[in-house]
Amino acid sequence: LQQQPDLVEQLKNLNIDSAKNYSNTALSFPNENIVDFYRNLIADKLSKLAEIDYKVIYEALETVNSLEKGDLSIPIPRILRGKKGVNPREINHEWAAQLSNKDSEFYIPFIKTCKAAEIFIAFYFDTDFLIKNTIPLVASKKENYGSMKLVENKRIIIEFSSPNIAKPFHAGHLRSTIIGGFLTNLYRFMGWDVVSMNYLGDWGKQFGLLAIGFEKYGSEELLVSDPINHLFEVYVKINADVTKEKEEGIFTEDDPESTNNKARLYFRRMEDGDEQALKIWARFRELSIEKYIDTYARLNIEYDVYAGESQVPKEKMDEALKLMHEKNLIHEDKGAKLIDLTKFNKKLGKTLVTKSDGTSLYLTRDVGGAIARYEQYKFDKMIYVIAMQQDLHTAQFFEILKQLGFEWANRLEHVNFGMVQGMSTRKGTVVFLDNILNDTRDKMHEVMQKNEAKYNQIAEPEKVADLVGVSAVMIQDMQAKRINNYEFKWERMLSFEGDTGPYLQYAHSRLRSVERNAGALFDDLKTTDVDFSLLKDECAGNLIRIIAQFPDVLRVAMKNHEPSTICTYLFRLSHQVSSCYDILWVAGQEKEVALARLALYSSARQTLYNGMRILGLTPVERM
Ligand code: ARG
Repeated sequence: LQQQPDLVEQLKNLNIDSAKNYSNTALSFPNENIVDFYRNLIADKLSKLAEIDYKVIYEALETVNSLEKGDLSIPIPRILRGKKGVNPREINHEWAAQLSNKDSEFYIPFIKTCKAAEIFIAFYFDTDFLIKNTIPLVASKKENYGSMKLVENKRIIIEFSSPNIAKPFHAGHLRSTIIGGFLTNLYRFMGWDVVSMNYLGDWGKQFGLLAIGFEKYGSEELLVSDPINHLFEVYVKINADVTKEKEEGIFTEDDPESTNNKARLYFRRMEDGDEQALKIWARFRELSIEKYIDTYARLNIEYDVYAGESQVPKEKMDEALKLMHEKNLIHEDKGAKLIDLTKFNKKLGKTLVTKSDGTSLYLTRDVGGAIARYEQYKFDKMIYVIAMQQDLHTAQFFEILKQLGFEWANRLEHVNFGMVQGMSTRKGTVVFLDNILNDTRDKMHEVMQKNEAKYNQIAEPEKVADLVGVSAVMIQDMQAKRINNYEFKWERMLSFEGDTGPYLQYAHSRLRSVERNAGALFDDLKTTDVDFSLLKDECAGNLIRIIAQFPDVLRVAMKNHEPSTICTYLFRLSHQVSSCYDILWVAGQEKEVALARLALYSSARQTLYNGMRILGLTPVERM
């Protein structure tokens, strides 16, 4: 296949220096992102024609998400910036005519047409040019197509999932896992040094309770074989004891013999660093993590760091408390220490910073934890993926860090999300991630078995069922804006039709089969020059227009942190591929034609593959 032409060079030949003209707020990457090449072209001509600054135009160019409306568009009022006496609804017609007139000095090369509508000018790229450039670009970048080095030497910590040991892994943790995994992939793809971190809920009085419970109900064997479920069982039983003691009045409030009090004392010892008390807790933690590692691997997630509330250094919390005092942020109320954040933001309220018994709080652990993380990692950015139920908590500790004077406090970002309703397994309520994934795999397996002929062709059906099942869960979660709540629906999620995970997997496996069926021809692609002029059909042009947008779509997702941006894109891509199948046959065609079409399908396949990988899916070969 042809080498990708150097588009930066092409711009230079047109006297456009993409690096010089546009390099402050966001970099321009014409050789990675063809849309950037066009941004430069358009900015160059339109700035000269309208006598408006190049950068103003460049930044005002917007991506368009329906092909009928063009490939890029510009809202004229934004570049006029209140200029008197110019009507955007008239000037846009005048300008569009000049920009698309071959005889004008302002004619934009490689553009099919410019259309004025309402307050916009829409630009339609020349699809011959796109085909000639995008296909070799994708073929040469392969798994890296879409990647741009947006930053140099920048580090980000992404904290996500963060379940609580011995408590259920609920839908909130699932969403955090999926979104956080996606962000980790995306930031890495765009050149960031990412530290992925799981901040386990592994500290607090409940671990005293769990230790007491384990003495009473624990089984060494079950702890080793199935720590997560077993610890939860123990926790439920010991909690029932606490409730029973209370209800039946077996002990008075602070009878040293009450389970509650034993637990409190036990945790006290843990906080004081008593080795004996910490030993069993450390085992609970380690065995749980071991198990988590395997489960996360099913979602293609591998953490760099298993941190946790227990790991927050006491000195950092003390340091923070000392600072709070120094800055006069603290006042006492009936022995408790409070911080009043309403001075900074009414909504943040007043909140407790130490408990009367001196043990630490969730909030202070987050404050101390952030300080420790900064000291260790010197991050340029840190993202917390936490459910919106904790919006207040997160805003509080962000504000505290800011008030304590840490200049890096403005590098923290909360990526939040809404709730999932009705997530349950066959047996009832969902308890752990593994249970959800196993259940989905089994259901997917049943669906697959219904098509016997196909089923028999699959080498490892269980494994495929797992991968497709995982995609079903993940896509259902990622296809709408994060903040929306959604309902967990088995039927819909596992369907091969409509915008679902299995549909994307199906689209990918079908493209793979086009490549497989082409046999030797597919190998020829690597060495042969393809005659791109054979790709004249409109559906091919539309497909390449979508493929060309991929890097740009990723950059949008970097800004809004919405996996749905990529999901929506991948569905558009898959739909367009599927409308090409009827028209652009590969089988039974003349070699040159078959090769050109195959090259197109191959770049569609690669793009779909890359997008799915970023979302965290494993694209399947057959299904
Ligand atoms: N373990 C917490 C929970 O399940 C979530 C932790 C979120 N992260 C944080 N830094 N507070 O509610």
